[in-house]
Amino acid sequence: MKSKLVIGNWKMNLSFEEADDLTIAIQEALAEINLQTEVVICPPFPFLELVTDLAEESNFNAGAQNCSQFENGAYTGEVSAKMLADLGVDFCIVGHSERRRYFNESNEVIAQKINRLMDQQLIPVVCCGETLEERNAGKHFEVVEKQLKETLFHLKKEDFEHAVIAYEPVWAIGTGVNATPAQAVEMHKFIRSLVEKKYGTEIAYNTYILYGGSCTPQNAIELFSSEDVDGGLIGGASIKSGDFVSIIEAAETAVNDN
Ligand code: 13P
Repeated sequence: MKSKLVIGNWKMNLSFEEADDLTIAIQEALAEINLQTEVVICPPFPFLELVTDLAEESNFNAGAQNCSQFENGAYTGEVSAKMLADLGVDFCIVGHSERRRYFNESNEVIAQKINRLMDQQLIPVVCCGETLEERNAGKHFEVVEKQLKETLFHLKKEDFEHAVIAYEPVWAIGTGVNATPAQAVEMHKFIRSLVEKKYGTEIAYNTYILYGGSCTPQNAIELFSSEDVDGGLIGGASIKSGDFVSIIEAAETAVNDN
């Protein structure tokens, strides 16, 4: 059984001091665990260095929440993949539904961001997921397939194998209503079948497919023990050290029990 991957997405939360305290609390708690799970913390840009500095001596990695689709130049307010790489960041979330919704990010732009990340050997955490209307209309598979094909499936095998996919149904994000394990399994299996068709069985097996959307210490074990769920992308619960560490412990338990 492969180990799990748990990623904390802090979104636009916390003060510098709170971010510092949280990173230290997570570091201290994880130092007590002989971790098999890979842990990534994705703070807002101004706090990234706090996390990269501590990550060097800890059992977690640093990730960003976004990057520019451009390489460098006159793009006021943007942060390039190269800047992230220079800082010691290893992962970057792309295509989050909040960026699609509030910043009009299209599949085409997300594909460009993934290319920039690949140029820097950073690991993209590529989000996909349907809205409630799309699910109610029975279009969830179609929506996720289009998102993945248009953002990710242009990659060559040797690049694709470094990518992580996160299934985050929009209706589950920040709502307290998580997908049921059955709903997650059904979609994760579908996603893995798409990867298999395009890139073959071995890459499909090795690809990490995370679940995100109202993950809590209470539901994490059942979700992470479900077939084809390789871990989680955690929002709200990732900015409470106790909850985040409990979710990581759930990932450890899910692997050891299987
Ligand atoms: P919540 O865990 O707060 O639902 O957020 C999930 C998410 O969007 C992670 O990227």
